[in-house]
Amino acid sequence: MDKVAIITGGAAGIGFAVGERLRKAGARIAIWDLDAARAEEAARALGGKDAAIAVQTDVADWASVERSAEQTVERLGGVNILVNNAGVTGPSVPLSEYDVHQWRRVLDVNLVGMFYVCRAVVPLMLPGGWGRIVNVSSVAGKEGNPRMSAYSAAKAGVIGLTKSLAKELATSGVLVNCLTPATVVTGILQELSPETVEYMRSRIPMGRFGTVEENAAMVAFMCSEECSFSTGAVFDTSGGRCTY
Ligand SMILES: NC(=O)c1ccc[n+]([C@@H]2O[C@H](COP(=O)([O-])OP(=O)(O)OC[C@H]3O[C@@H](n4cnc5c(N)ncnc54)[C@H](O)[C@@H]3O)[C@@H](O)[C@H]2O)c1
Repeated sequence: MDKVAIITGGAAGIGFAVGERLRKAGARIAIWDLDAARAEEAARALGGKDAAIAVQTDVADWASVERSAEQTVERLGGVNILVNNAGVTGPSVPLSEYDVHQWRRVLDVNLVGMFYVCRAVVPLMLPGGWGRIVNVSSVAGKEGNPRMSAYSAAKAGVIGLTKSLAKELATSGVLVNCLTPATVVTGILQELSPETVEYMRSRIPMGRFGTVEENAAMVAFMCSEECSFSTGAVFDTSGGRCTY
């Protein structure tokens, strides 16, 4: 595919696996990540030069997002695919003990940041009459995980944002869908207690965690030409946990 794809949080985990998959399909990749060193390393691993670039970005900071959009257009010539994947879980603590600043930061990164990135990138996609946006939510956004109120609220918000934007853009050629994975073993689990991770595993009927490759495969479909009559949809990779 002769496309340019932005992947937020693409330096590690699910985002990096998506980068590998889209790169194999021929897309040029812009990795927007807070961790500049890991983003550079990831871009090199995907071929570097014009094939993959690293753009240091804090998705929760509007000025940073605007700068990254400008740099990406300058260096890669435009944007056709956006995978909004950057996320943090925040700690696993009861709501009544949750630090109020931390709660706000989890919302800012997972939800407000996704709005910022869409706000900057959608206007770049519309003139071409073709685009694919994938927003990474979570089963937490459908079911709510106990002791993860900020994360669950943010991820439910991602589903609402996806449905709203998809309807706005339905006749534009830009499709907007979202992914709701159950637990995948990546660095993001580090903030959570072992009990919370075990709770999440125990809720999966297949009895195992998902893999980054399984999630990347689903995202790759949503980014493809073949995905043509789905928008505002929620695609599940939860091993049977969320069958709705
Ligand atoms: N791993 C799971 O179990 C799981 C389950 C459901 C949903 N998800 C979602 O999948 C997405 C990817 O998670 P992952 O498991 O690959 O995590 P990860 O920690 O391996 O990767 C997340 C990446 O996002 C980057 N990032 C964090 N804050 C950022 C910011 N403010 N701006 C830009 N980049 C930032 C990190 O540097 C990191 O490279 C997240 O949205 C997460 O909520 C993960």
